[in-house]
Amino acid sequence: MAAANVSRAGLDHVVGLRVGKALDALPRLVGEGAGPFDLVFIDADKPSSPACSAWTLELTRPGSIVVGDNVVRDGAVTEQAARRPDMRLTGDLLAGALDDLATILDQRFLHMGGTTTEVFAAYAADHDRKATQP
Ligand SMILES: C[S@@+](CC[C@H](N)C(=O)[O-])C[C@H]1O[C@@H](n2cnc3c(N)ncnc32)[C@H](O)[C@@H]1O
Repeated sequence: MAAANVSRAGLDHVVGLRVGKALDALPRLVGEGAGPFDLVFIDADKPSSPACSAWTLELTRPGSIVVGDNVVRDGAVTEQAARRPDMRLTGDLLAGALDDLATILDQRFLHMGGTTTEVFAAYAADHDRKATQP
């Protein structure tokens, strides 16, 4: 279906398709030296999402945008994380992304060596905002 849509759009000359499991294709792309990509959309099965996200970091650069599908689910990710493994995986993925963001904010701007919570609280205070806990 993707190949047909790409052809119909007249984009065969700019789009490269990889058919197969993402966790096979992503390490292969890294091995080939592909990227860095400006935009990545992760819409895979939930158990694979954290590993897809980790490989994505190898294929992007600062400023790249990574979009994950089904990460909010009307709040179910936080409410049901303890009970449902797929929600827990998505929650872990988001937590990892927030940890990465806190590390970047701390290294580039705050230089405090704090935890993720401390870094976001300091950043919020710097911007006259109150940090809230979920
Ligand atoms: C929810 S669909 C969305 C497809 C497309 N992004 C869209 O919005 O139309 C997800 C697709 O990815 C495939 N898929 C799920 N997990 C995958 C994985 N780990 N590797 C490769 N394909 C996967 C599924 O078979 C399905 O075709």
